[in-house]
Amino acid sequence: MNAKLSVNINKIATLRNSRGGNNPNLLNVALDCERYGAQGITVHPRPDERHITYKDVYDLNPLLTTEFNIEGNPKEKKFVELVLDVKPAQVTLVPDVQGQLTSDHGWDTIKNKNYLIDIIALFKSAGIRTSIFVDANIKMIEGAKETGADRIELYTESYAKLYSKNKEQAIESFIYAAKRATELNIGINAGHDLSLENLHYFATKIPNLLEVSIGHALIADSIYLGLENTIQLYLLQLQIN
Ligand code: PXP
Repeated sequence: MNAKLSVNINKIATLRNSRGGNNPNLLNVALDCERYGAQGITVHPRPDERHITYKDVYDLNPLLTTEFNIEGNPKEKKFVELVLDVKPAQVTLVPDVQGQLTSDHGWDTIKNKNYLIDIIALFKSAGIRTSIFVDANIKMIEGAKETGADRIELYTESYAKLYSKNKEQAIESFIYAAKRATELNIGINAGHDLSLENLHYFATKIPNLLEVSIGHALIADSIYLGLENTIQLYLLQLQIN
């Protein structure tokens, strides 16, 4: 099975918000992504609502026909209420701090173990699949398993940064991390800075990959290639046989 492509539409909301109106129309773009082959839609609302707003999440929920993945920091009470209300297919827990430009680190699953056990149990009791954002670090993955999360999302920025210089070295820690996750029977997602340049190699080297969520590069590529073509090209990168 090829990994699923979940398109992160935060950048569409950023563009819309820059003029205060409704262009581009986020709901239409999300539905078009699905029509063009995306197997999921990801949103990452932040407390300042600078891109996806809480209202967007409520508006998208009844319209989507693929997997809805909501990312964010559960230490925000409003985020927890939103996720429990909407009951998406998946919630991805990310340890963002206020004002952070984008996610830049995974959970310390050892330090936050008791907190994560409780919050994950809460989401799982509502029937929501849980994933936690972690660096490709064996100890953090072992810690993730102990929290009861269904999946990890591997934070791929370090891979993407090193890829063009030395792709074998760039993927190394991710191969070890994925092996350990598989031994522990925890599912593997991945995201951050994945692109048309580096995605295929990642997917071939991490054969148990279940899902990638991709926003920035995909939306940037679509300026030149068009959204439909771009989504098709990303899907092609995920084909490993
Ligand atoms: N995963 C997480 C947890 C993220 O915060 C983001 C960015 O919002 C992504 C994946 C997608 O990263 P990118 O926009 O670089 O594709």
